[in-house]
Amino acid sequence: MTPKSGTRKTPSQHPMTPVPIVALDFPDSQAALRMVEVLGDSCRFYKVGSELFTAAGPQVVQALRALGNDVFLDLKYHDIPNTVRGAARSAAAMGARMITVHAAGGRQMIEAAVEGSGAGCSVLGVTVLTSLDAATLRSASGAKTVELSGEVLRLAGECAAAGAYGVVCSGLEAKKIHAKYGDRLRLVIPGIRAAGGKRDDQKRAVTASEAAKAGATFIVLGRMVTEAADPRAELRLAVASI
Ligand code: C5P
Repeated sequence: MTPKSGTRKTPSQHPMTPVPIVALDFPDSQAALRMVEVLGDSCRFYKVGSELFTAAGPQVVQALRALGNDVFLDLKYHDIPNTVRGAARSAAAMGARMITVHAAGGRQMIEAAVEGSGAGCSVLGVTVLTSLDAATLRSASGAKTVELSGEVLRLAGECAAAGAYGVVCSGLEAKKIHAKYGDRLRLVIPGIRAAGGKRDDQKRAVTASEAAKAGATFIVLGRMVTEAADPRAELRLAVASI
């Protein structure tokens, strides 16, 4: 099949400044929707991941959409191509604007996701999780010599070849991907932290401004915003720093 062009499916975005996406990693929809209310018009793009989706299902995606938000459904599919094609189709029908697959699932699987998602939903490949460092990647993959940034670039290449809209990567590798693939791959950067802020389980964290400089199209802000005493102020600070 012919991979779709990466420019066909473009969620609303500013060409230069990365669009902030807040990760709603909450155990139920009430908590998630409370955060959406707190953030008000300072955020219009939300990420629903495994925790919230497993608890609240498609209804929470529909509730976010009904409030006028875009939804990034981050379920990181990794299965046989036929199953991922179907999952992508269901996610698009639910109203998700972006979805993720693990790039390690292979080119055919990524292509199947792109096919299934159709024109209104974009596919992002997750390269190497930002919670992994070189040692944990080596231990997880069993490859003693695997080099982290080389692996991220290799997986980004698979995504580009499969016609994905972009990749999820850490701010530390984003520059290299941007230099190699330019506008062919949009960069979504999670693991954002305030300078000197606590890192939690993120090993390859960067600040919002570093992510912007590295070429991010979107930045994903999670606990840094949702666990802040004043989430709205924290989000505004991060956006102002870009
Ligand atoms: O709270 P925190 O900022 O660490 O949240 C980061 C979010 O981005 C989480 O929802 C996590 O699942 C997601 N993510 C990530 N690293 C990736 C892909 C997604 O941290 N490579």
